[in-house]
Amino acid sequence: MQQYYTDKVVLITGGAQGIGRGMAQAFSGVGARVIITDLDPEAGGDALAWLEAQYLKAEFYPCDVSQEDQVQHLMEQIGQQYGHLDVLINNAGIASPARKPLAQLPMKEFDQVLAVNLRGPFLCAKYALPLLEKALHPAILNISSTRAFMSEPDTFGYSASKGGLEALTHSLAVSLGPQRIRVNAISPGWIETGLWQKEGAKKEPNHSPQDKAQHPVGRVGTPEDIAQAALFLCSDKACFITGQRLVIDGGMTVKMIYQE
Ligand SMILES: NC(=O)c1ccc[n+]([C@@H]2O[C@H](COP(=O)([O-])OP(=O)(O)OC[C@H]3O[C@@H](n4cnc5c(N)ncnc54)[C@H](O)[C@@H]3O)[C@@H](O)[C@H]2O)c1
Repeated sequence: MQQYYTDKVVLITGGAQGIGRGMAQAFSGVGARVIITDLDPEAGGDALAWLEAQYLKAEFYPCDVSQEDQVQHLMEQIGQQYGHLDVLINNAGIASPARKPLAQLPMKEFDQVLAVNLRGPFLCAKYALPLLEKALHPAILNISSTRAFMSEPDTFGYSASKGGLEALTHSLAVSLGPQRIRVNAISPGWIETGLWQKEGAKKEPNHSPQDKAQHPVGRVGTPEDIAQAALFLCSDKACFITGQRLVIDGGMTVKMIYQE
């Protein structure tokens, strides 16, 4: 991977914390020029210091991916700095502020989740396009969720946004195929991000035996589990893969549960 990613320009949205931070660590570790963008500038600064302590590098640009003018400005900045973009990872995402029954869910909250999780990746793809077209093997990776195809009660906006993101993935793959841009999705299951948060928000993982037992592999996932697959999917080793979703959930969604 080192050989492939040396000097490749990789943009990770929501890259300051959680899974995005884990991907920033992995891509920087194989020599990519990592650009983290995030809504939270404090978390952005914290992520850069965290990477630096591991002798890794990244740049940080603040941006709210749901805002068209901010996304447009971000891509202009990247264009001026690098002239092209090899990999766009649409990772920024939010869950509903609080789970609420259908009748009590304010439209504002539903719309906000869709604006970040679905409009955001669309805007980023749209404005990154001229930069991706200038790359040798461009790739887009959308971070979806197993909630695209299964739900807990009262998670309307989140499930709908991730279902939409998976549909957007195949739509982009088909539309951008002629420009040689591959587009795939990863659908993570339960990923523990407590140790990948900014200072003050870090949490020690604490998983019960039942939590672990829900997973055929016997544990909850980590950002590294997602990052390793992202490295593969965005590289030329995956050059015949486009329009696909890869479920990474330790087997949770294939486990049949009978309650006696
Ligand atoms: N952690 C899980 O169990 C899990 C499971 C399935 C899917 N996912 C998906 O993975 C992605 C990352 O999730 P995570 O758990 O690492 O989340 P996280 O909350 O730990 O990190 C998300 C980051 O995105 C940033 N962000 C939020 N809104 C933004 C916006 N409008 N513009 C730019 N940045 C914004 C946040 O500031 C934060 O730094 C999300 O798309 C999420 O839906 C997570």
